[in-house]
Amino acid sequence: MNPLILNAEAVSSKPVIVALDFHSEMDTLHFVRHLDPSLCRLKIGKELFTATGRSLVEKLMSQGYELFLDLKYHDIPNTVAQACKAAADMGVWLVDMHVCGGRRMMEAAAEAVANYAEKPKLIGVTVLTSMTSSDLLEIGLQEEPEQLVSKWAALAKNSGLDGVVCSAHEAAMLKNQCGTDFLLVTPGIRLDVAGNQDDQRRIMTPKQALASGSDYLVMGRPIVQAENPAELLRSINEGRV
Ligand code: C5P
Repeated sequence: MNPLILNAEAVSSKPVIVALDFHSEMDTLHFVRHLDPSLCRLKIGKELFTATGRSLVEKLMSQGYELFLDLKYHDIPNTVAQACKAAADMGVWLVDMHVCGGRRMMEAAAEAVANYAEKPKLIGVTVLTSMTSSDLLEIGLQEEPEQLVSKWAALAKNSGLDGVVCSAHEAAMLKNQCGTDFLLVTPGIRLDVAGNQDDQRRIMTPKQALASGSDYLVMGRPIVQAENPAELLRSINEGRV
């Protein structure tokens, strides 16, 4: 099977989700002027959302962007379900939560958004890429990270989530295991694997990650620091890098 055709919908047009790792609304809006909603989607994480709240989400959506609200929910089922509903009310495209919150939490979240006409996609965070085997052991988890990722991806799928966040190095394994419709969202993307990795360790280029089965690529610094972010997005969308 050619992995490039694993998920035609996602891979075809604009796979990049630009991580808006800024601290203020002003810096964010200043940067976003270089982009266009036809080229990418956007991600707002804990730092920016805590600093700016709903107003920035609404401003960016009114410009036509689809938003990934990356708040990694982890709480009792009712609280996460209500948070997902609040995100669905805002109209965001993608929302995430920690798989280790358990089956009942994920099922409650899926049920909470099931009746929305524009239902946000729900994504599970498996093992944080910052966690090593010894970190896992320290919190009582004996499995290797890769085993746990596989187990938690299966749990996320069986609990009604639409996909998971994972490393591109796990994408092929998870596509095989969970099927082509199960979305894989992968950070750790760099344009030149031999070049500057920043704090990322297990990296892939956009082309490699998509060929491995990633549906969406979360990219921060390589886009934010590019001389011409829009041109770079065009070359990724056209499969040139
Ligand atoms: O700048 P860079 O491309 O490394 O940014 C990647 C983005 O993806 C950041 O917002 C980071 O928090 C996020 N992320 C990650 N690794 C994960 C999950 C999320 O780098 N496992």
